[in-house]
Amino acid sequence: MNDDQENKQQLIDGLNADLAREYQAIIAYVNYSQVIKGAEYMTIAKELEKHAGEELSHALQIAKQIDYLGGSPTVTPEPVKTSKKAKDMLQFDLDNELVTIAHYRRRIRQAEMLGEYALCEILREIVTQEQEHAIDLATALGIDVPAIPKLDGEE
Ligand SMILES: [Fe+2]
Ligand SMILES: [Fe+2]
Repeated sequence: MNDDQENKQQLIDGLNADLAREYQAIIAYVNYSQVIKGAEYMTIAKELEKHAGEELSHALQIAKQIDYLGGSPTVTPEPVKTSKKAKDMLQFDLDNELVTIAHYRRRIRQAEMLGEYALCEILREIVTQEQEHAIDLATALGIDVPAIPKLDGEE
């Protein structure tokens, strides 16, 4: 494989990891929005339900892009944690959103390097929604949005 092919394969593999995280997010939001208990959490429960739909839309867009690039979209989600505590569920979601944002930022750089500008636009819109999800979750937890984690190999 030449450099271009290798970079394209890396982009496809990265998008498939993103897709696995989108599936994880769909499952988590479907589950948590229905099982979360407590009067003080009813507003965020509705919000989580909305997130579930947005994550499905992200998954469809990412799968379409993987197919367009010649890859095959994964069918396997990242594992989903469960808890009976509302706070834990919101924290799991927040942690995952931050990791997701870090990965999408990297993916945008990769797509840019390959001149895949339409993909960049799609990823930018998705990452904007992920940031909104993180804000909703942090607000429900009564905290500021934490820093975006560093990925392996990043300064
Ligand atoms: Fe998403
Ligand atoms: Fe999200």
